[in-house]
Amino acid sequence: MDIVLGLQWGDEGKGKFIDLISEDYDITARFNGGANAGHSIERNGKRITLKSLPSGIFMKGVQNVIGTGTVLDPVSFRKEILNLLQFDGTVQPEQNLIISRKAHLVLPTHKLLDVFMEENPEYTTIGTTRNGIAQAYSNKILRQNLRVGDMDSPDFRGRVEHILKRDFRLLAGGDMILPPLEEISNEFFEAIDFLKKFTRTEIEIFLNTAIFERKKVLAEGSQAAMLDIDHGTYPYVTSSSTTASGACSGLGISPKKVGEIFGIAKAYCTRVGNGMFPTEILGRLGEEIRDKGNEFGSNTGRPRRIGWLDLPALRYAIMINGVTQVILTKADVLSGMESVSVCTHYELEDGTIEQISGVLPDNAHPVLKLMKGWEGDISAIENTDDLPIELKDFLSFLNNELGVPITYLSTGPGREQILKMEG
Ligand code: IMP
Repeated sequence: MDIVLGLQWGDEGKGKFIDLISEDYDITARFNGGANAGHSIERNGKRITLKSLPSGIFMKGVQNVIGTGTVLDPVSFRKEILNLLQFDGTVQPEQNLIISRKAHLVLPTHKLLDVFMEENPEYTTIGTTRNGIAQAYSNKILRQNLRVGDMDSPDFRGRVEHILKRDFRLLAGGDMILPPLEEISNEFFEAIDFLKKFTRTEIEIFLNTAIFERKKVLAEGSQAAMLDIDHGTYPYVTSSSTTASGACSGLGISPKKVGEIFGIAKAYCTRVGNGMFPTEILGRLGEEIRDKGNEFGSNTGRPRRIGWLDLPALRYAIMINGVTQVILTKADVLSGMESVSVCTHYELEDGTIEQISGVLPDNAHPVLKLMKGWEGDISAIENTDDLPIELKDFLSFLNNELGVPITYLSTGPGREQILKMEG
């Protein structure tokens, strides 16, 4: 099994890379998160953002798996499938998608509780995507949640209704305007009927059998290392394991079966939501990069915060994931700048930090290395020799600093705009 992961705070361009390589695989499998993801894929000049669906869904011969470590919102899933079918009438998700019976369900009140907590001053505001992700995972840990496999049990409806009513009583204590319970309940059960058209199975057995038969599996991470529940910038993180070890536990595959670990990083950083971001670029320059890079949440539309590339954070992400290849994206967005900066380390009064670990002392100060920028439109370049010398210098600097090769350079948003780097 190979794994693709984000190395920063999400939105690194994982969807495009997975789309590029997924034809080399028999199976693509999502192992964490849910409808909070937004993997953008281009097809016939049009763009679609996948949320819960694996990026191999367009490939005829590729089997797609929604894994055990994910949380599935039936209402959002139904909308996503209907949207997918409208986008491309040739896809056949009922044929090439299977869902873990042990994946957890996101209930309608999970989404309401997410909003309730985000807006209630008695709780820390995380800046979530408001998809009920934390509520579903916390109920999983509390052992109070329902799973996909529970849909088939005769008392499923009663159990859901019990939880919805209980959660409504809790929500009634706040000042949120709630939708009618009956309305959200009906919408949920309609979505459950829709979900029943898809195969639900023991994906661990399916995947391990496939690996035994020498089929190639690609595990598709969502969110990213710095948003990992354990290793990220807690509490401003998502609620799942976003790392390579999360892929193993979320799919039930032994670490011994892992081959390549592709880490995706942008040539700069972005993050949405709250939390530390020491290399953040405020003011006009940040806005310029945001506009040029179209840095607005593909899921929520929120403007993303922009920062310089943070090597201490990237080294950490590479270390905890055991990344074997780095894929660098969006270098084209920085084209035309006189200079670009990279944070090489952090300085403290009594020393330096080369590798941050999801936490950073308040008095740590990012040290930026100023590098010469590159000119011109790199998006049409087909040969790495033709890259501007300043960009080549930037890449070789990163190669040295990271100790892991950059094997692909994405040069634009289009499907073809990616270069395989030599040697
Ligand atoms: P949640 O996952 O919706 O609970 O949100 C928790 C944090 O993770 C927030 O800061 C979100 O903005 C961030 N987040 C969740 N999913 C993504 C993603 O796919 N890309 C970027 N940030 C994300």
